[in-house]
Amino acid sequence: MAQPVTLVTGASSGLGELFARRCAARGDRLALVARRQNRLRALARELGNDPIVIAEDLSDYDAPEAIVDAIESKNCHVGTLINNAGFGMRGPFAEISLGDQIDMVQVNVTAPMELCHRVIPMMKANGGGAILNVASTASFQAGPWMATYYASKAFVLSLTEALHEEMAPHNIKVTALCPGATQTEFADSAGMADTQLFKNFVGNVDAVVDAGLAGLEKNKAIVIPGLVNKAMVQSGRITPRSVSREIVKLLQG
Ligand SMILES: NC(=O)c1ccc[n+]([C@@H]2O[C@H](COP(=O)([O-])OP(=O)(O)OC[C@H]3O[C@@H](n4cnc5c(N)ncnc54)[C@H](OP(=O)(O)O)[C@@H]3O)[C@@H](O)[C@H]2O)c1
Repeated sequence: MAQPVTLVTGASSGLGELFARRCAARGDRLALVARRQNRLRALARELGNDPIVIAEDLSDYDAPEAIVDAIESKNCHVGTLINNAGFGMRGPFAEISLGDQIDMVQVNVTAPMELCHRVIPMMKANGGGAILNVASTASFQAGPWMATYYASKAFVLSLTEALHEEMAPHNIKVTALCPGATQTEFADSAGMADTQLFKNFVGNVDAVVDAGLAGLEKNKAIVIPGLVNKAMVQSGRITPRSVSREIVKLLQG
């Protein structure tokens, strides 16, 4: 019998590292993915229970297949998938290199979609499973100065909601986690640390991860951690889209 593992992408820092810690603490065997192998190895040593360390660059077209192959080669299958890896880039769309934006779509959109597609048959064969896709409050509106990032997260939310419905008869839980600005390495790598958004509305990692795992357990379609973020998303539903765009433009400019 293949052993179930919890696959966490982007486990080398921020939300992904804490997802790995929480899942290890409840007894899951883990498969950890990111590019920074040294960090994954150090985390694996700390967590114990023989995590599978898979150093892959998700902007490589072949990475999702290689990840699943690495897990199957250890006689394991994916029982829980946490599609967390992702990155953003702030700046005018036309001035951010096309190569970087194609990589962003590969990491934030294509790789998580492909991983869902590759693990769902395993989950069905094993009687069920769980998928947590990390989207964002950015999923709910357009994002001037981070156009491709916001668009990528809109895709993740839409895909996840659809899969939530399609997978229900197969005992596969599917949840979109939509954090707002959170204290990780994301803001620095995206060039956002000095924005009004990250100066004024930053939340902590524990609350986001705990809300995500609790929401997945209950098979919620969408989890928005934190009252401020919930209020922002709700108010966006009744605000004209042109006004929402202006607000985001101001917060990120
Ligand atoms: N922090 C926020 O404010 C915020 C808000 C909403 C949504 N999110 C989402 O939350 C998720 C986690 O981000 P975070 O906040 O925890 O940021 P983070 O600390 O920068 O972590 C990002 C993780 O993604 C991995 N990653 C990035 N590019 C990769 C690639 N090409 N191949 C493989 N792994 C890659 C990184 O690992 P390596 O660099 O080692 O490869 C790292 O482990 C992302 O999807 C992000 O969009 C974050």
